[in-house]
Amino acid sequence: MAVHLFEARDHAVSYQKYRFSPPEKLQSVIFSYVEEKRVDPIRLVVDVGCGSGQSTRVLAAHFEKVIGTDISEAQIEAARQAASLPNVSYHVCPAEDLPFEDGSVDLITAFTAAHWFDMPKFMKEVDRVLKPHGCVALSTYSADLSMHYKDCSERLTEIFTEIWNLLFEHADERVNLVIAEYKEVFELLPFQDKQRVTQIIDKIPMSISGVIGFIQSFSMYQAFLRINPEAATSLLQKTEQRFLETMGVCSNETQVEVWLKNVCVLACKGP
Ligand SMILES: C[S@@+](CC[C@H](N)C(=O)[O-])C[C@H]1O[C@@H](n2cnc3c(N)ncnc32)[C@H](O)[C@@H]1O
Repeated sequence: MAVHLFEARDHAVSYQKYRFSPPEKLQSVIFSYVEEKRVDPIRLVVDVGCGSGQSTRVLAAHFEKVIGTDISEAQIEAARQAASLPNVSYHVCPAEDLPFEDGSVDLITAFTAAHWFDMPKFMKEVDRVLKPHGCVALSTYSADLSMHYKDCSERLTEIFTEIWNLLFEHADERVNLVIAEYKEVFELLPFQDKQRVTQIIDKIPMSISGVIGFIQSFSMYQAFLRINPEAATSLLQKTEQRFLETMGVCSNETQVEVWLKNVCVLACKGP
């Protein structure tokens, strides 16, 4: 069954504002894989669960035509309102029922999204719409994230981990696929030629307000916000305060470096 955790307009707005594009090392893992596997040029890429389009726009710089799809109208509306690129378009549709002809797509991607899909149905769709030798790349960042700033990196990371663990009580069970670093997603991929790449570490500069916004965009934070808005809002305020006190600074625009560990499962359909 499809989940509807990203439908709220405010959630889509916080996505557009605080989610970042696929970081460079992750991009390079995907692009190198595709280059290695593909003989024919990639004409059509479908970015499933594209949210507000951060990943879709990155793909547009590399491929002829990119279509972002998402089950949430609010997310697609946010994606359409962002920079429009001539080779990008968007569709509201479930990942389990993609509006593409059999054997018509060269590359399917999903960034931090595949764990929300009904996996067996989605895998069937992947198999159906991919061309022979078409590729699929499903990635997510893991829970193993660290924050870096001068000599207080360890303490900042501890605070972040504490908040993550607290919010995890409100996580949907599908987040366990992320915790297991997509092992099950890998097993379910219906192609022989496949690999799972872990330890893709990207270092992302972020302001403290950006880190707070990133936490705010988590589905588990949004779930907490729905059941207890006051506690959720106060948690974010207190967390920001703790970060700033730890760093000994006043401005929430102070930059830190967030080290994100991504995992990516990649596969290539047979002839
Ligand atoms: C965590 S967001 C990731 C968005 C974007 N790919 C990114 O990297 O920022 C997950 C997205 O998957 C979408 N989603 C969840 N279930 C879906 C489904 N069954 N079919 C299509 N999209 C879905 C949500 O609406 C949401 O926009």
